[in-house]
Amino acid sequence: MKEAEEAREEPSAEEPGTGGPLIIYFSRTGEQYTVGVIDKGNTAIVAEMIAEETGGDLFEILPRDDDYPMTYEELTDVAREEQALNARPSYAGPVPDLSAYDTIFIGAPVWWGDWPMIMYTFFEENASGLAGKTLIPFSTHEGSGLAGFDRKLAAACPDSAVGEGLAIPGHEAQDQQETVRGQVSDWVRSLGY
Ligand SMILES: Cc1cc2nc3c(=O)[nH]c(=O)nc-3n(C[C@H](O)[C@H](O)[C@H](O)COP(=O)(O)O)c2cc1C
Repeated sequence: MKEAEEAREEPSAEEPGTGGPLIIYFSRTGEQYTVGVIDKGNTAIVAEMIAEETGGDLFEILPRDDDYPMTYEELTDVAREEQALNARPSYAGPVPDLSAYDTIFIGAPVWWGDWPMIMYTFFEENASGLAGKTLIPFSTHEGSGLAGFDRKLAAACPDSAVGEGLAIPGHEAQDQQETVRGQVSDWVRSLGY
């Protein structure tokens, strides 16, 4: 008995689902508004800060066939069309085991005043896995703030609780990281981390 107990492995903090939240995000590199060509997306920077400040795990939503343009003007056209068509672009899996998490942060850039449509694909395809969780939205943007991400997330995931979100200007995530880290840190502390 004692040997069996000794042999049992303690869960490591590195393993998924060992207490921290999951941080799910969508973000683009390439040319972005006001920041030029970037090799790490604005939302990705904020997502990584949240993971560091909470001890959470990251999952990036990547388009399954990534043919999004890398220039800003062309990307805005594609995004506008997706929105007009109420499209549901596919993302690449596999999604982590959502049952391992009570709290899930979900972030994306504001695209035309809304979540990018690929996020609605995610919300709808994972509605049952997200049910009963606390979802905390975050955005990066250039003026629209949270753009109703919280309300729209609650509507898309009616069986989840939605916590207080955070909106960060994209250029600040890119160029004022010390300030943004302070805001992220204060916010996650206010949420109990
Ligand atoms: C297609 C598209 C649409 C956008 N629409 C808005 C918008 O409606 N409101 C806003 O404040 N910013 C808008 N932006 C700016 C982005 O939200 C901002 O640059 C964001 O930080 C980009 O994040 P990312 O690098 O993680 O993709 C838009 C950007 C793109 C590419």
